[in-house]
Amino acid sequence: MFDFQGQVVVITGGETGIGRATAEAFARAGASVVIAGYLEDEGQSVVEAMAAEGRAVEFIRTDVQQEEVITDVVAGILARHGRIDVLVNNASIFDGFAGITETSTSLWDKVIGTNLRGSFLMSRAVLAQDMTARGQGTIINMASVGGLIGGADGLAYTTSKFGIIGMTRQMACDLSARGIRVNAVCPGMIQTEMRKHSTRILGADAPPMRGVGVNPDALKRVPKGHKGRPADIAHAVMFLASPYADYVSGHSLVVDGGWTIQ
Ligand SMILES: NC(=O)c1ccc[n+]([C@@H]2O[C@H](COP(=O)([O-])OP(=O)(O)OC[C@H]3O[C@@H](n4cnc5c(N)ncnc54)[C@H](O)[C@@H]3O)[C@@H](O)[C@H]2O)c1
Repeated sequence: MFDFQGQVVVITGGETGIGRATAEAFARAGASVVIAGYLEDEGQSVVEAMAAEGRAVEFIRTDVQQEEVITDVVAGILARHGRIDVLVNNASIFDGFAGITETSTSLWDKVIGTNLRGSFLMSRAVLAQDMTARGQGTIINMASVGGLIGGADGLAYTTSKFGIIGMTRQMACDLSARGIRVNAVCPGMIQTEMRKHSTRILGADAPPMRGVGVNPDALKRVPKGHKGRPADIAHAVMFLASPYADYVSGHSLVVDGGWTIQ
């Protein structure tokens, strides 16, 4: 459906879930895909699965909380590929629906540090080292319906996703006239293993990961009546990265089966 032949696409946290589906979809559409992710084994498994299909995907172990690491990762990608056409800031940690009194300072720092600050650091590095000078490129930030409404997630995650939507709008104001579009995607409830990955990555800081939504009847509020697939989000990301979205900038595209229309 989409053609990204010859383009270089960087996806943070592209080794699992929505990021993996997005990496695979871009690779199948002809892009050279670089996954900048935390979980090494999962990253290698995407590389191998895609290599078996003859698709170009590489994995670089990256912690998006670390500024120096990001500077080096982006420099390395540019040394190997020459440019970055699409950056997808997808890496994220979930907070287990922790409310304010359950949120430790270190949980807050890691969730905000990964989801919001990590997206800022990656964007700034890619802009500074490549996109701004070329006056080309597009950035897609992974927000959430939790960035549009209260009560969908916990405190730190919700705050990070509201921040991502604000950051997306401000970046679009700053960059659109310079040839760089910035947009966000807001997934609703998507079938992934985010709670498991976040528990593993957070270690001792992990809160108990509760069930589906703060409200156990949350799925009943989704008009489509079921969770979305990671590929549903991948396709929204691809649309925003494609020339079909040439006049779309600063937008937050909701993909939630109708959850937030009511
Ligand atoms: N699954 C959902 O229902 C849902 C809903 C709304 C938004 N989202 C968003 O979609 C995106 C993908 O989530 P997912 O559901 O696929 O979960 P996931 O856990 O499979 O994906 C998150 C990825 O981020 C990576 N990551 C975490 N910390 C990192 C770090 N410091 N540096 C680099 N990578 C790091 C993880 O290794 C993982 O691959 C996230 O931004 C999430 O907030 C998901």
